[in-house]
Amino acid sequence: MNLKEIVNPRLFDIPDYDQIHVTQCWQDPTIRREMSNESNYAPIPAIQEAIRSVADKANYYAEDAAYALSLREKIAAYCSVKAENVALGNGSIELLDLLFQVLMAAPDKDEAVLLQPDYSAYVPRLKFFGWKIKFAQLSAGLDKAADQVMAAISENTKFVLLSRPNNPMGTVMPREEITRMLETGKLIIVDEAYIEMADAGTSVSEWVNQYDNLIVMRTFSKGFCLAGIRLGYMLATPELVRYINRSRHIFNINLAAMAAGEAAMDHLNECRQIFKKLTDTRDWLTAELAKIPGFKPIPSQANFVMVNVKDSGKTATECVDYLLEMGFFVRSFAKKAGLEPDAYFRISVGLPEDMEELVVYMKEFVAK
Ligand SMILES: Cc1ncc(COP(=O)(O)O)c(C=O)c1O
Repeated sequence: MNLKEIVNPRLFDIPDYDQIHVTQCWQDPTIRREMSNESNYAPIPAIQEAIRSVADKANYYAEDAAYALSLREKIAAYCSVKAENVALGNGSIELLDLLFQVLMAAPDKDEAVLLQPDYSAYVPRLKFFGWKIKFAQLSAGLDKAADQVMAAISENTKFVLLSRPNNPMGTVMPREEITRMLETGKLIIVDEAYIEMADAGTSVSEWVNQYDNLIVMRTFSKGFCLAGIRLGYMLATPELVRYINRSRHIFNINLAAMAAGEAAMDHLNECRQIFKKLTDTRDWLTAELAKIPGFKPIPSQANFVMVNVKDSGKTATECVDYLLEMGFFVRSFAKKAGLEPDAYFRISVGLPEDMEELVVYMKEFVAK
């Protein structure tokens, strides 16, 4: 049988996943994992206890995500919306996938507008579902983002998708720019994966009550330290929430994820202490990196710091390779569309003592 003749031809434009670094980290726990914007803090004890407490109930299906009222109500209260505005996903990435499917009516015609640079996982999934992609460059800066986005919008545009704080830059588009985009009447999907580390008042989640074309994506993977448990949510109109729930398979959220999510919402103050540790370490790291000759860290509102090393006499690739030799996996942006070649790398904020070590290595390396 020639499978190539019968599989979805869009698969041929999509490379195999390259996630070997994650496997390497599991195989060698001494490597400091600063490449995927996970947290290096374990979940708070109450979350761990909640996960353990459902171990002896794993013989039963969890509630389906369309019900799960207790968890959805807690999330709704956290985000100042109603439970009917909340859809739960197996990570926010599942919800993005579902949105890409639900909104797709005319393959190879319907358009999505993305920013450049932005989260790298968006493009392959959009391509797989038949979206045409238009890019709005961020080179003119976030203050001009709405102009750039509007220039990219056409009558075929169904939605604009952006991360805020932006991954990989860590910067936050001004609220007025989001308002201007919302006024186009197109669907605007704001991915707030890193919102727990942003300044108070940054989120636009409450605007879901007022704009029916706003969709907000959130996750427990970052600030709540639960990347491995896979729990994310979408805030949108009840109608869109219903369509998303119809389009997915049943029981997409496992029992442990439900329990973890509830415990996180029940112990927000302890979780907030972790957000604070992350942001304090991030700001310390940014200040220290700025002291290294030729290093330009970008002030970040997320749990990572992007650094431009162009004027340091070293390339981004050299810095990333050196840090790996020293036991740190960080993420190279040497070849990222929209960024100067071999100038940038990104460090996920780790434990303070690890960040201190990393800074020492970088200082030594640049001085060599
Ligand atoms: C902007 C953004 N959105 C979504 C995700 C994925 O989140 P989840 O683990 O909830 O699928 C990430 C992870 O790196 C991200 O950077």
